[in-house]
Amino acid sequence: MSIFKKKPIELLIADAGETGKGLKRTLTATNLMALGIGAIIGAGLFVRTAAAAAQHAGPSVTLGFIIAAVGCAFAGLCYAEFASMIPVAGSAYTYSYATMGELVAWIIGWDLVLEYGVGAATVGIAWSEYFNKFLGIFGLGIPYEWCHSPFETSVSGVEGIINLPALFIVLILTLVLIRGTKGSAMINSLIVVLKVAIVILVIALGWQYIRPENHTPFIPEPTKYADPHTGLTYNYGGIMGILGAAGVVFFAFIGFDAVSTATQEAKNPKRDMPIGILGSLVVCTILYILFSYVLTGLASVEDFRNPALGGEASVAYAIEHMSGQTINSVWVADYQWLSNLLTVAILAGFSSVILVMLMGQSRVFYSISRDGLLPKIFSDIHPNHHTPYKANWIIFILVGIFAAFVPGNIVGEMTSIGTLFAFMLVCAGIIILRKTNPEIKRTFKTPWVPLVPILGIVVCGAMIFGLG
Ligand code: ALA
Repeated sequence: MSIFKKKPIELLIADAGETGKGLKRTLTATNLMALGIGAIIGAGLFVRTAAAAAQHAGPSVTLGFIIAAVGCAFAGLCYAEFASMIPVAGSAYTYSYATMGELVAWIIGWDLVLEYGVGAATVGIAWSEYFNKFLGIFGLGIPYEWCHSPFETSVSGVEGIINLPALFIVLILTLVLIRGTKGSAMINSLIVVLKVAIVILVIALGWQYIRPENHTPFIPEPTKYADPHTGLTYNYGGIMGILGAAGVVFFAFIGFDAVSTATQEAKNPKRDMPIGILGSLVVCTILYILFSYVLTGLASVEDFRNPALGGEASVAYAIEHMSGQTINSVWVADYQWLSNLLTVAILAGFSSVILVMLMGQSRVFYSISRDGLLPKIFSDIHPNHHTPYKANWIIFILVGIFAAFVPGNIVGEMTSIGTLFAFMLVCAGIIILRKTNPEIKRTFKTPWVPLVPILGIVVCGAMIFGLG
């Protein structure tokens, strides 16, 4: 048996068609788009944007978003062709099994498992930060050591032990997932509406408070920035700064590919998957460009570099400081209510991101296990809820360890690199499959093959390079 053995596409589709013991087909195009937007808007926008501005690009982080979006669009077009052609669970894993054989599929399968797992942990850690901010509204807070990893130390020298809130949210969402995807998708749709509404509100309201000096110069001169809080040095400004920022904010786009992991649960995957994948990507790109422009106009790069100011919970900070006055030496924000509301929306928003990532991960495990490359326990389906519940529990343990014990910036960059690698393989897969299986019906065709996939590989490769 060869490690380059490929799984025939007809068999992939037949496997997926087995009803009864398989996953239920309940999701519509709108559900899928909501799933995509739910997965996409999260820690990347609300946490990483300010980090990218502080460390890499200043206001030109907005250009970084455009580069990241272009890379995702090329890869997204390739994902959409695959999803319309091979409507089964498993995303890039399944696609690479059909095109590049067992070994590559196995590698990409694990790459995806790490992407979703480590990504879910990253957002869980961001959730923990905003949860503390939420408690602050009521004058409460979790002691530093119980909401930070052992690799972090506070300004006053307290060492982290375990990130309990991050572990807690991963547990709750694992329970939600086990109860069933349909219910999860409905909760998710509600959160998506809230999240998009708050993003639009910040853009519309914040626009009038943009301070032009914060946007000048828009592209800083190339230099180095040594972060005194982590000891790391970054390329700041110029083209390298923008590329580095693109690699960082790329995290904000991760997730639209997770839509394709739910193909087996889509009612009409051939028509709905391209709509779900590309639709959610377009909506988010427009919002991101506007949002990053407003955010970098509301606070200075220096503010975003200082953890005590805008370096943490950056969006809430920017909102609180866009307008207000000093009364008795205390700054009183005009928009404290918006900051509070936003904190709640961000908590909900992060939850939906974690949910989709956990779901994506269990579906990749499910597919690998169905192919016999992982033990059968990963594809055991719950008799009532029709969900791969055992895989969900195993994933909880894996993700929980990262969420509880590893710092957010480390898991964030690991996620970006893993995902960019998966995107490059999917782009390559499209070129290969057009040659090896030209006869298969594709309801959606990637335009200008091989140009688009090649550009996808180049742009995603450049972002990995930018991340260093
Ligand atoms: N795109 C997701 C986020 O920004 C992973 O949190």
